[in-house]
Amino acid sequence: MNDRLYIFDTTLRDGEQSPGASMTKEEKLRIARQLEKLGVDVIEAGFAAASPGDADAIKAIAEAIQNSTVCSLARANERDIRAAGEAIKPAKRGRIHTFIATSPIHMEKKLRMTPDQVVEAAVKAVKLAKEYTDDVEFSAEDAVRSEMDFLVRVFDAVIEAGAKTINVPDTVGYSIPALWGERMKELIARVKNSDKVIWSTHCHNDLGMAVANSLAAVMNGARQVECTINGLGERAGNASLEEIVMAVRTRRDVFKCDSRIDATQIVPASKLVSTITGYPVQPNKAIVGANAFAHESGIHQDGVLKHRETYEIMRAEDVGWHANRLTLGKLSGRAAFKSKLAELGIVLETEEALNTAFARFKDLADKKREIFDEDLQALVSDEGYAAEHERFKLVSMKVCSETGEVPHARLVFTDDGAERQAEGDGSGPVDAAFKALESVVASGATLLLYSVNNITSGTDAQGEVTVRLAQDGRVVNGQGADTDIVVASAKAYLHALNKLASKRERAHPQV
Ligand code: KIV
Ligand code: ZN
Repeated sequence: MNDRLYIFDTTLRDGEQSPGASMTKEEKLRIARQLEKLGVDVIEAGFAAASPGDADAIKAIAEAIQNSTVCSLARANERDIRAAGEAIKPAKRGRIHTFIATSPIHMEKKLRMTPDQVVEAAVKAVKLAKEYTDDVEFSAEDAVRSEMDFLVRVFDAVIEAGAKTINVPDTVGYSIPALWGERMKELIARVKNSDKVIWSTHCHNDLGMAVANSLAAVMNGARQVECTINGLGERAGNASLEEIVMAVRTRRDVFKCDSRIDATQIVPASKLVSTITGYPVQPNKAIVGANAFAHESGIHQDGVLKHRETYEIMRAEDVGWHANRLTLGKLSGRAAFKSKLAELGIVLETEEALNTAFARFKDLADKKREIFDEDLQALVSDEGYAAEHERFKLVSMKVCSETGEVPHARLVFTDDGAERQAEGDGSGPVDAAFKALESVVASGATLLLYSVNNITSGTDAQGEVTVRLAQDGRVVNGQGADTDIVVASAKAYLHALNKLASKRERAHPQV
């Protein structure tokens, strides 16, 4: 059996279907570039037929990405397939991923189609997709609750029509590892020409078994796993990429295969996705949680100091923790700054963007003695956020917060270049700053989420703030970074307001 495990990342499609995780084209591009650096085989960049914005983002990713296949999802109908085909056209390697539901409940109640009609639509979709690319994947949605004989019939037919990857999804997160492994094994044994295709698995986490089910499928012949960074995804999420990759690598003796993922890029990818979507990573999350490699108990610490492997099955630096250490300082010059950005894979398109970023770096270096890779990533992202749609921009702010007094904020910001002033009181300094801004902007938006993450450790670390706002059914995330978290909060609020004002933020990508 083939010992290569293909990693199909669907953070930008299934992951984006998490409530509030909708991303702009620029944010999707930033994540796609990191996924390429991570070495994922396939980036599912979106669902082209869902909206013109989604199609546009897929096209931009297809143009930018060189080393991963870029894929669009499409339902098994002509409109979707053509939209997907057009969106992936610029890609060096492009894939169309078409799907239709095959379970009795979905066919009867949702599609209102007979099994014969479903087979016919699936075959037609695959044949049409082949007109755009040879790389066509077919998924039987809700395969977990589909009848085995019918699944075999559908898969026989789509392979005959030219599908190269067959994906078996547990759409509702219903399976358990032993059954999911058996299902994969039986399909591979019964489907004609099963050796001519890559078998894939796509598991949701409703019962907390997405990773375990995916791994059971791998043990039984699947050679592609569909997963997301941090396990992001609808409801309880999808299988987590980092857990799959590290389980297979750490227990190669069991799985007998491996992916080509550069694991040192896992933690940076996790942080980027968490920042952009506003979904925090729980501290005890495997691989990417802040405590995943922390040894608290004395016995463990003693053991690790004497011999690391007593309590560590993986090395933190191998998955990207602490790999990005001290980078630059106050005295670093423009050339060192530029070359460090290049090393981090950060491309600033213009000389002007580089100059602005360098000026921001110097400002930061005045406040913070040591600048780490993560600081640079945040700084450049922050610049990117501001540059995208800058109707509102923070100029300065002053906040008074004293025991026994009502916190008060005074801000100066620009609105389409015109200077505005805002003042307000609040229950805390951040609340006062937001109230002050609202008193002038009057967006009427509802604050859905406010979260702060420290980018590096130490009290001089930059805080990265995410603010999620809802207005007239649209939900946007804003981010801001600064060594002063109240300033970072105001920047994040203005960033979210800019997105609401720009109308460029995509609607929820689900059709
Ligand atoms: O969960 C699911 O079934 C899907 C398919 C579109 C593959 O996301
Ligand atoms: Zn899914």
